[in-house]
Amino acid sequence: MATVIFHHVTKRFGNTTAVEDFDLAIQDKEFVVLVGPSGCCKSTTLRMLAGLEKITEGTIEIDGRVVNKIHPKDRDIAMVFQNYALYPHMSVYKNMAFGLQLRRFPKKEIDRRVHEAAEILEISELLKRKPRELSGGQRQRVAVGRAIVRKPAVFLFDEPLSNLDAKLRVQMRGEILKLHQRLQTTIIYVTHDQVEAMTMGSKIVIMREGRTMQMGKPIEVYDNPDNRFVAGFIGSPAMNFLEAELIEKDDALWVRRDSLLLPVPDSKKQTYAEYKSEKCFFGIRPEHIYDKEFLKEYDPRYIINARVELIEPVGSFVILQIALGNDTLVAQVDPHTRAALNTEIELVVDMEKMHLFSETAPHLALGTQ
Ligand SMILES: Nc1ncnc2c1ncn2[C@@H]1O[C@H](COP(=O)(O)OP(=O)(O)OP(=O)(O)O)[C@@H](O)[C@H]1O
Ligand SMILES: [Mg+2]
Repeated sequence: MATVIFHHVTKRFGNTTAVEDFDLAIQDKEFVVLVGPSGCCKSTTLRMLAGLEKITEGTIEIDGRVVNKIHPKDRDIAMVFQNYALYPHMSVYKNMAFGLQLRRFPKKEIDRRVHEAAEILEISELLKRKPRELSGGQRQRVAVGRAIVRKPAVFLFDEPLSNLDAKLRVQMRGEILKLHQRLQTTIIYVTHDQVEAMTMGSKIVIMREGRTMQMGKPIEVYDNPDNRFVAGFIGSPAMNFLEAELIEKDDALWVRRDSLLLPVPDSKKQTYAEYKSEKCFFGIRPEHIYDKEFLKEYDPRYIINARVELIEPVGSFVILQIALGNDTLVAQVDPHTRAALNTEIELVVDMEKMHLFSETAPHLALGTQ
């Protein structure tokens, strides 16, 4: 049981500001994911919470208690690191028991907890092995087991799956989620992988250069990114951006770019109206551009003609790289598309899903409702 609150937290290394004015409130039992590109201070933020890094300014509270000056071992937190940091000369059992031994737990209690954790993680038959005799996935489980036996109030995970192959990563993702449901503990999970963030977090915090760019439920962030950075970071393949202009013609608003002219749908007219005649970035996700042939109904004004430059069949869909004048866009279309290289294709842009970002203040969205 624990809530965690970051209150105006700043971290400086010498004269360099790493984390700046970071605010975050985490509820008890919440699964929060910090996500962002390499170097955006995810680990530093987590390490400050764990007590492994000093806080320069601001406060961190765990369950209402400011922990800035509390020793790491007294914070009731367990952390799983990317490299697992297992002791190579110790058996799996010893690796899991070690933290409890240091804390002078009775032998019987240690034994009970290690076996319980091993059962949850399905590694009971591996307890006598040494880490080098384990696969990557098994080692990862031991690292998690070592955290579980502590029964901490908060679990911290710092990119725990990045050493695993793609298939195992997906499997372990599910297992960590199940573990969360079973243990009912607060979890803060760090990753640079936006798919991991989207699939795991009940709340995600998108970070860039030590600052929060947006936080919210994954689907809210996907539907309504606050800025171009978040729009481009969340979603795969990434959102297309075109520098464009918003013009008024025949009583309607239009997105214009070279030969491209697409109408702003009525539902979005009001939101965007005040940005008329401004230069901005028009954003559309690849999954919102359709192969016209597979649509029964569409607004004919949403059609674009483009030349196919690359075809990537993925199985459940096909990714097309298309040229539109001098621009290249990505579309994710029906797997049975008849698109052929270097030929023209008619695509339909779902303008109900359009986004618009200000060019003068690229970190500010114009609103996407
Ligand atoms: N002890 C330190 N001294 C000086 N600078 C540091 C120190 N630790 C981290 N930094 C800097 O702080 C910034 C954030 O580092 P951090 O490890 O938190 O990033 P990250 O988001 O976890 O990245 P990655 O995804 O690569 O793990 C980086 O620019 C890093 O060089
Ligand atoms: Mg890191």
